[in-house]
Amino acid sequence: MKSQKKYFIKTFGCQMNVYDSWRIAAMLDARGMVASKDVADADVIILNTCSVREKATNKVFSELGRIRDAKKSGALFGIVGCVARETGAKAFHRIPDLNFVLGPQSYHRLPQILENPDAKLLNIDLGGLEKFDEMPQIVHAPVVSYIPIQEGCNHCCTYCIVPYTRGPELSRSFNDVIRDTLHAAKTGAIEICFLGQNVNGYKYTDENGKIYRLSDLIRETAKMPEIQRIRFTSSYPTEMTDDLIQMFKTEHKLLPFLNMPIQSGSPDVLKRMNRPYSLDAYIKIINKLRDARPDIQISSDFIVGFPGETDNDFEQTLKIAEQIKYINSYSFKYSPRPHTAAALMPNQIPENIKRERLAVLDSALNEIQRKFNEKCIGKTLPCLCEGADKTGHHLIYRTPYMQQCIVACPKDTACPTMANIKITAANRASLRGEYVKN
Ligand code: SAH
Ligand code: F3S
Repeated sequence: MKSQKKYFIKTFGCQMNVYDSWRIAAMLDARGMVASKDVADADVIILNTCSVREKATNKVFSELGRIRDAKKSGALFGIVGCVARETGAKAFHRIPDLNFVLGPQSYHRLPQILENPDAKLLNIDLGGLEKFDEMPQIVHAPVVSYIPIQEGCNHCCTYCIVPYTRGPELSRSFNDVIRDTLHAAKTGAIEICFLGQNVNGYKYTDENGKIYRLSDLIRETAKMPEIQRIRFTSSYPTEMTDDLIQMFKTEHKLLPFLNMPIQSGSPDVLKRMNRPYSLDAYIKIINKLRDARPDIQISSDFIVGFPGETDNDFEQTLKIAEQIKYINSYSFKYSPRPHTAAALMPNQIPENIKRERLAVLDSALNEIQRKFNEKCIGKTLPCLCEGADKTGHHLIYRTPYMQQCIVACPKDTACPTMANIKITAANRASLRGEYVKN
């Protein structure tokens, strides 16, 4: 009997990549292959890559070097995603034995290389979301299921390579998104996370001219009895329209948690970043959100050391972080990227200053997060189980604010997927809790 072929997929970067990898795995499963954790054992090796910072791109190439040495002869290997789009044919010059280089909107062409393994396959075209329709569905949806609703970005922040790698904004049709969401609900999903580079910019016009927004998707999804929690990421501040804000008031399945990156607290830096909102406008949106849902918590992304950032600019970032009290944030040193305007700006900031500023911001953000976590002690929160920890003796739950909460496994009963958990202890990174008897 012929042994089953194996595949190895490693995913870097954002949730969109995680989702794309699920679909690639579903396609390979449908062709009778099985997943393997061992590169040396795999017949097909795929890195799904991220190019948002230089370090991310470098990581991919060092990993490719390692894989080239470890893989068995004859195994197909290649890259998909944003590094493929960023490097294109040059990837074949750097690693000549690569078999395929497929951009984020052309990974549905993978079957071509499986059928013709002696060829080289390069496709980094943009311009369509056919991949979502051409690839087989995920058979059993994860408990937390990502559903992409739009891809690409029209904002063109001057530091960001995403508009180049993922292209201009494209929204999927309302019916396609609802079909995929329903499929996820029927096959295991309890939480839906809608995805898009500019998720709240979702806008789909049907053949009768009817316009659908993210609020319509949330309203329709909230009707599905299997789905208990809904969230979405990442949001652009000025696209937080009133219909969407109102969802936080009317749809209780929508979690009271929102990632809405501010990037910097300095109006000058924001202008050079081409993020044309004032701090007042940003704060006004937060206030509206808090009016709609008083317990809503916000998370942000920050970039430190953007070209020309002064000590005073940086102080303003610290100030806004303290003012908004972001409970969970990602902060990055600015990284010059090809195809971006900021890479060519004067007054690039030296690495040591970037490093210092990042450490100061991180410690301020950690402190805010720790305080919020400690404030949760004594509260009872409805939490969703995401699986066991490494020891197998504890379960990891997510609170409605996306905090991780560790709970000892119950001895006598099955582990509930959704449970009311009383928070008993907290530190910066996580909470501890216990089941509340209903
Ligand atoms: N809205 C997008 C954001 C993409 S990039 C999405 O979620 O898909 C994610 C974050 O990386 C950005 O919010 C920004 O803070 C950071 N980032 C983007 N380009 C960067 C660069 N050149 N250097 C450092 N950080 C960057
Ligand atoms: Fe990038 Fe700015 Fe869009 S961070 S993804 S260009 S909103």
